[in-house]
Amino acid sequence: MLMSTHASLLYFSGTGNSYRAAVWTSGLLNRAGIDATVTSLVEQHLSGMEETSSGRITGVFLPTHGFTAPWTVIRNVLRMPRGDGSPAFVVSTRAGIRVAGVCIPGMEGTAAYLIALILALKGYRIRGVSGLDMPSNWMALHWGLSPANAGVIIARAQARMERFIGGILQGNRVYRGGICLALGLLLSPVSFLYLIAGRFFLAKLFFADNRCTGCELCATSCPCNAIRMQGKKQPRPYWTFSCESCMRCMGFCPEHAVQATHSGGVLLWYATHYILAASAAFLVPLPKPFTLIAGYFIRLGVFFLTYILFWLLGRIPLVNRLFSWTTLTRIYRRYHEPETSVSDLVRKTLPGK
Ligand SMILES: Cc1cc2nc3c(=O)[nH]c(=O)nc-3n(C[C@H](O)[C@H](O)[C@H](O)COP(=O)(O)O)c2cc1C
Ligand code: SF4
Ligand code: SF4
Repeated sequence: MLMSTHASLLYFSGTGNSYRAAVWTSGLLNRAGIDATVTSLVEQHLSGMEETSSGRITGVFLPTHGFTAPWTVIRNVLRMPRGDGSPAFVVSTRAGIRVAGVCIPGMEGTAAYLIALILALKGYRIRGVSGLDMPSNWMALHWGLSPANAGVIIARAQARMERFIGGILQGNRVYRGGICLALGLLLSPVSFLYLIAGRFFLAKLFFADNRCTGCELCATSCPCNAIRMQGKKQPRPYWTFSCESCMRCMGFCPEHAVQATHSGGVLLWYATHYILAASAAFLVPLPKPFTLIAGYFIRLGVFFLTYILFWLLGRIPLVNRLFSWTTLTRIYRRYHEPETSVSDLVRKTLPGK
């Protein structure tokens, strides 16, 4: 049997899936007589969490991004206090979808085991690792799931969490997702590229369409402080490189005004390609490693500068309409975990029983 009397459940969550898994776990632990608190991983260092975690079980809940853990999660887990041999577990939610009554699993790749490895190196004893299918929230890519399909996936996920936490409470070690880990290791070059470049590219595809009222909800609720409201008369959100593409702003905007431009993505891709080709003459004489590093920074520079231009043009209503009409997110259904409100996600700590 597990001997802890307290549990600290830390989550990073864009649209509430990982948060919901943490809340379910809190209920299960409370029922077993363990006092559990649910805290935002980003805020844990501000929330009075003690410097040591002894006598406590720690759970980390995160979404999968690019077949691995989001950078914000990696960074914040590295900042967690040392484990001193206390037990811990990791749950990585992933993109479940349901088509024609069939549930298709997501793929967490290295997400959960990478976080478990960091915790183990910090001195935690890893008692469980699992992926968890929740409704896919990647609304920049695809239509959000219907409430009925999302409901089926969520009910299955809750049952799976009960089995997972039940096993840990009985004192077992519950390691799941070996095949996903193997695939994730094979795909690790993709994950690496996602972490060093892909996420910056995705951050620069967001814009607010003409329906934006400047209410600032997206900026105040962003878990990464990645949105700056720009413009005095008509403030509009500006997405910085700190954006993790967690989809919170897109999922919770009351006006459905947050879009991810597909046409802009194609233009940005070509702009980067041509500028890199044009700078090749200056880069070729350099040794190979310098060429790669220079190419990388040129790419980021192009993302940065073209986004400023795109954002300024988007302030002209007619141009903004043109951008909106050429992006599929204008017609995509929005998703967030149905029981979760944006205020649940911005609240720092949900106290235990
Ligand atoms: C940018 C981005 C990348 C994603 N990459 C993956 C992935 O590689 N594999 C997967 O199964 N799900 C992926 N997803 C889906 C999310 O991990 C999944 O929906 C998760 O439950 C979201 O949790 P949250 O609401 O707590 O943020 C991705 C979602 C986004 C927005
Ligand atoms: S939440 Fe929506 S309406 Fe409010 S500022 Fe952000 S984009 Fe505009
Ligand atoms: S800007 Fe939007 S998508 Fe990016 S991290 Fe913030 S809430 Fe998430």
